[in-house]
Amino acid sequence: MTNAQKWMSAFLVLFLVLFILNRVTKKEEVIHHPMNESYNNQSAEKTEQDLDGFTLIKQNGCITCHGQNLEGTNMAPAITGLDEFWSRDKLINYLRNPSSYSGDKRFKEYRLKYKNIVMPSYGNLDVKDLGKIADYLLTK
Ligand code: HEC
Repeated sequence: MTNAQKWMSAFLVLFLVLFILNRVTKKEEVIHHPMNESYNNQSAEKTEQDLDGFTLIKQNGCITCHGQNLEGTNMAPAITGLDEFWSRDKLINYLRNPSSYSGDKRFKEYRLKYKNIVMPSYGNLDVKDLGKIADYLLTK
């Protein structure tokens, strides 16, 4: 090998090493890229938004007090047949702020019957989710 050939092959090897290194680091960038992660989060949020009313009801612990089939327990009344009392909007407002409806006659009876239990406020939930819960309850 001449000197020139030695230099050529040295450069060639160096080039190859740099090329491979570049590929390897690029691959890692794709995996850990913030854009990629936010995309994953977005799709996770999307599936959360797609939950139906009853799943949301179970997820938020309503059945602990109102029963597996919303038939009522000794802690809280049944929450079926609600379309007799509530419009969709009013029901959503109630879930966000239950104490604002305590004046109603029905609620005075609840107060006596479920003395130590208070219906929690769900104002922290997404209004869309509350809408789905209300829609579901109004069909029961
Ligand atoms: C800690 C127990 C508890 C949990 C959890 C709970 N509730 Fe209640 N809920 C009550 C009680 C007690 C009442 C009776 C009213 C009162 O005392 O304020 C009530 C009343 C209601 C009413 C009014 C019933 C009527 O006759 O109009 C609705 C609607 C309702 N709850 C829906 C829900 C939903 C939906 C969830 C979950 C997102 C939920 N509740 C979670 C205890 C609970």
